[in-house]
Amino acid sequence: MLLDAMRTLIKHALASTEPKDAVSVSAWVRSRRDAKGFSFLELNDGSCLTNLQAVVDSNVPGYEQIALLTTGASVIVEGRLVASPAAGQKWEIHATSLKMVGLADASYPLQKKGHSLEFLRTIAHLRPRSNLFGAVFRTRSRLAYAIHRFFQERDFVYVHTPIITASDCEGAGEMFRVTTFKEGSAPAPAVDFFGKPTFLTVSGQLEAETFASALSNVYTFGPTFRAENSNTSRHAAEFWMIEPEMAFCDLAGDMDLSEEFIKATARHALEDCAEDLGLFQKFVDKTLHERLAFVLERPFQRVAYTDALEILAKSGRTFEHPVQYGLNFQSEHERFLTEEHFRCPVTVFNYPREIKPFYMRLNDDGKTVAAMDVLVPGIGEVIGGSQREERLEVLEENMRLQKLQPEAYWWYLDLRRYGTVPHAGFGLGFERLLMFLTGVSNIRDVIPFARTPGNVEF
Ligand code: 4AD
Ligand code: MG
Repeated sequence: MLLDAMRTLIKHALASTEPKDAVSVSAWVRSRRDAKGFSFLELNDGSCLTNLQAVVDSNVPGYEQIALLTTGASVIVEGRLVASPAAGQKWEIHATSLKMVGLADASYPLQKKGHSLEFLRTIAHLRPRSNLFGAVFRTRSRLAYAIHRFFQERDFVYVHTPIITASDCEGAGEMFRVTTFKEGSAPAPAVDFFGKPTFLTVSGQLEAETFASALSNVYTFGPTFRAENSNTSRHAAEFWMIEPEMAFCDLAGDMDLSEEFIKATARHALEDCAEDLGLFQKFVDKTLHERLAFVLERPFQRVAYTDALEILAKSGRTFEHPVQYGLNFQSEHERFLTEEHFRCPVTVFNYPREIKPFYMRLNDDGKTVAAMDVLVPGIGEVIGGSQREERLEVLEENMRLQKLQPEAYWWYLDLRRYGTVPHAGFGLGFERLLMFLTGVSNIRDVIPFARTPGNVEF
C-alpha cells in the first residue's frame, strides 16, 4: 500500500495545467536552502529530471526537523501546488505539512554535483539518484517498452528463450560455465546437474529459429552472457539482446527491418524521452540531436564486405589492425566507415564464410555468407545478423568445417528436415543502442549494474 494515498509523482505535479489545493509529494531532498522564517527544499522522486521546489514556512507542522533534512533524506511534503515566481519553473509546492521519512547523514556520497563517471560506478547502488543516471535509466525503460511495441505492432511473437543452454550459438568459445560442482572438485559433465556441460547463453537465436519455424515472425529480448576478456567501453559480460527472427525472409528483408528498427528507436527517443535527451545533449554529447535527426532523415548505406575492404585499403589511413580479406573488421575500421567515409549508419554484408558462425547461409559464390552488421557513428557495430542456412546438407557440412558435431544440434537440424524455409534475423545489443541514443560513451554507464572482467560488485 502507498504510505500516502494522495501521493502525486513530481512529473505529474509539474505537468499540471492548474494550481491544486492539496497535493502530496514523496521524494528525496536534493538540496535545502534556509531563509528567515522559511526554507526551500529541492525535491526529486526520479519520475522526471526536473526537481520540484517546496517552500516550507517555519509554522508548518514538521518544520522542527528541517535542520535534519540534508541532501539524500526522504520526505513526504503535503501542500498547495501554486505558480512559481522563480524563473525556469512553472510550479512549486507551498507546504502545509512536512514529514521526515529517512535521514541521510553527511557521509551521503552524492552531496555535490560533478562527480566523475568512474566514481559513480563505484556507487552504482546510489547513482540512479543523480540527474544523469536517472535520465539514462528512464530512457532505458522507455526504449525497452518502445522495442516491444515496435515488434508487437508488426505481429512478432515474443519468445522467452532459455538462459541456461548446452549449445554454443556463436561458436566463439566465450561461454560461462554453469555447474553445481563445489570449489575444488572438477566438473564432471555426466554427473553434473544437467548431465552434460551447460553454459549461460550467448544468444537466443537458435531457439528463436525454432519458434520462427512455427510462428513466422518472433523476437527475443533478454540477457545474454559473454566471457570475452576484452575490457573495452563497448563490451559487457552480461548484456541484453533483442533478436528478431523471420521465416520466409532473406538478407535484404533482414537489412530492411534492422534499419527501420534503428530509425524507430531514434524517433521514439526524440519524442518520448525529450527531457532526458536534453540533458544528454547538454552534458554528454553536444552533437546528439543533430546525429539522431540525421539518422532519421537519411537512408542507411549498404556496402559489401569486399567493397568495404577496398574503401579501407584506399583510405590512405594507417590502421593498427591489418585490412585483409578473411579478417574481421576491428572497431577502428568500423568507425572509419561509418564516421568518416559514409558519415551515416552503414550495413556491411556478405562476409567471408571463415569468420562467421556455422548457421549463416552460404552465398552462390561458395566463399561468402549472407551476413550483415549494422555500424553506427560513435559506436561501430550495434547489430549483427544474417540469413540462415536452410539447406540441410550445406548446414551439416558447415558444422563439420567448424568442428561442431551435427548430432548435438539434432533439433536445430530438424527445422531443415521438416518444412524448411528461407529465414533471417539479427541481434541488437540493447546497451550499444542506448549508447548511440544517449551519447553515453561507456557501456558500464547504460546498464544498471555492469558485469565486466573483475567487476561484479552489487
Ligand atoms: O554479432 P553478435 O555476436 O550476433 C549474435 O549473437 C547473433 N546470434 C544475433 C542474431 O543473428 N540473432 O551479437 C549481436 C549484437 C552485437 O551487434 C552487439 O551489439 C551486441 O550483440 N554484443 C554485445 N554487447 C555488449 N557486450 C558484448 N560483449 C557484446 N557482444 C555482442
Ligand atoms: Mg557481431
